Amino acid sequence: MTKTAKSIILLATLVFLTNISIAQHNKPVYVEVDKPGAIIQPTMWGIFFEDINFGADGGLYAELVKNRSFEFYKPKTGWKVTTTDKDSSHFVVINRGATHENNPRFARVKVDEDSSKFCLTNTGFRGMGIHGGKSYRFSVMASLPYAGDVSLRIELVNAKGETIGQTRLQPSGKQWKKYSAELTASATDAQSRLNIWFQGKGLIDIDMISLFPTDTWKNRPNGLRADLAQMLADMNPGFLRFPGGCIVEGWNLGVRYQWKKTIGDVEDRQMIINRWNTEFAHRLTPDYYQTFGLGFYEYFLLAEDLGAQPLPILNCGMACQFNSAEVVALDQLDPYIQDALDLIEFANGPADSKWGSIRAKMGHPQSFKLKYLGIGNEQWGPQYFERYLLFEKAINEKYPDIVLVSGTGPQPDGDLFDYALKALKNTKAEIVDEHYYRPPVWFRENASRYDNYDRKGYKVFAGEYAAQSVGTASPLNKNNWDCALSEAAFMTGLERNADIVVMCSYAPLFAHTDGWQWTPDLIWFDNLTSFGTPNYYVQKLFSVNKGTHALNMLRENEPLTGQSDVFASATLDQHTGEVILKLVNYVGQVSEVPVVLKTARRMLPGASMTVLQHSDLNAMNSLQDPENIRPEKRPLQVKGKKFTLALDPYSLTVVKIKLQ
Ligand code: AHR
Repeated sequence: MTKTAKSIILLATLVFLTNISIAQHNKPVYVEVDKPGAIIQPTMWGIFFEDINFGADGGLYAELVKNRSFEFYKPKTGWKVTTTDKDSSHFVVINRGATHENNPRFARVKVDEDSSKFCLTNTGFRGMGIHGGKSYRFSVMASLPYAGDVSLRIELVNAKGETIGQTRLQPSGKQWKKYSAELTASATDAQSRLNIWFQGKGLIDIDMISLFPTDTWKNRPNGLRADLAQMLADMNPGFLRFPGGCIVEGWNLGVRYQWKKTIGDVEDRQMIINRWNTEFAHRLTPDYYQTFGLGFYEYFLLAEDLGAQPLPILNCGMACQFNSAEVVALDQLDPYIQDALDLIEFANGPADSKWGSIRAKMGHPQSFKLKYLGIGNEQWGPQYFERYLLFEKAINEKYPDIVLVSGTGPQPDGDLFDYALKALKNTKAEIVDEHYYRPPVWFRENASRYDNYDRKGYKVFAGEYAAQSVGTASPLNKNNWDCALSEAAFMTGLERNADIVVMCSYAPLFAHTDGWQWTPDLIWFDNLTSFGTPNYYVQKLFSVNKGTHALNMLRENEPLTGQSDVFASATLDQHTGEVILKLVNYVGQVSEVPVVLKTARRMLPGASMTVLQHSDLNAMNSLQDPENIRPEKRPLQVKGKKFTLALDPYSLTVVKIKLQ
């Protein structure tokens, strides 16, 4: 072999060895199993819900008809008329606002045997997702104001216009009544439409035209889209924060979220424009409204079904400070405070109390056991704290057991945040909301953010966080593996500091692939299916492997907060006797980590290891490839209390070891 050939082989070998090299951490990591530390609060990992990106209407709320009561600013939005007759009196939207303030409009259709063809078509939220073989419940409020004989043929058609299901209804009488009928779809189509054919002769008034799948989550009427709600249930969340987000605030106070307008009969809930409708010029969504079909009662019910603590957030007399920044005069804040007091009675009050009786009438005589209440969303400055203090006084006086959640504004540092830290000292704030919409590197660099936080101060609610791959609210942000893995690194720090961090939630939660305004988001969906982002799987892995107590996991007496790009936390689950280790390897090679369990307890067989991994930090999940990055359970042989974990390149690994 020539000298040159030898050199080439040597070089190739070196390159090969470099590529497959293993980062070895010779110093072991000690897990102090027999010294359980802070209690991991049952609320530790939860859900932030907001009606953004078609999160509620067009998303979780299973209603398939858009603008069902003709109340959008342009009342015919979402509706198309097919007629062979040019007479415009065949379809008129009538406003009876003087007597029906909450639901003023309805449609009057003139049906004429001679003009044989009249059809109203609803196009749904970017089409209707209809599943073949499933049944759907159509309903309508109708009245025949004069004698007449009008029947309805309800038809589902696919994108090609072919009938995929139909049924009939025969309304009668002058009284407004609700009519409903079921139909079964013969085919699946994401772009289906609903046709209502009018037959006979006479006038018919219609309102609240609705189509729901019958298999809503838990089969509730007026219920939730089953696949989306199930994804939430699969996270085993400790709390459900609702209804937002900036939606709580509104652009101005006139369109703020008012919970009292979201309860009671669905047809009496006064809808408003969704504040995300025109928020971003680059993502205008003119057909985005809040019908409040998913209102406060339904949110409480969802929290209960999920086994999660409800965490409502209320407007504190301030509109969004990124928009109008309108504030209510301090001497006119009482109605806002009263709303908060009444909400507590609505959730917890006896079934014969004023607001408790409404809850009972809606079907829930028992208390919703509300414990936490947020005052204001992402507010800042003196305007916030002077208003917050008035809420605090009134609520503490009447309901001393309610734990109030206050805020620090939109940034986790800087002037506004520093101001909040000082102002909070004059409050009795127990739990304080911090938001971090930052680049992935910020999350890794801040894995030790809470290690030196004031232990005598407030408890932290990491209420909104998501790594932004391009920039906050940029439409180019991606739910890529880099973001998810960096969040996981940060979350080991949240868990390690469970003595002060008591609630955490990624934001926003949902996004419709054809109707979003904000990215990144935890769960994406179209009209038929949904998928979890890598960020979703990170959240889920932490939440379902929560444990009950934090454990020290130390190398040379230091926690792993990014030394050699490894981050880690450990918990003990006293119910199952398991030690749970979470390790993030943020390097593109295997990292070997020697671990020593410091415990007098005996180890039991059945150790397991779940790995979320991808070698490409830009990798993502999608509708086409929903499980490109997904947790993978692997066998784990642990023979003694000393073992070495080989962490995959760019991975989150959750290890569970059973002890006696
Ligand atoms: O999560 C999206 C928005 O980000 C929320 O509505 C708001 O609270 C924050 O600014």
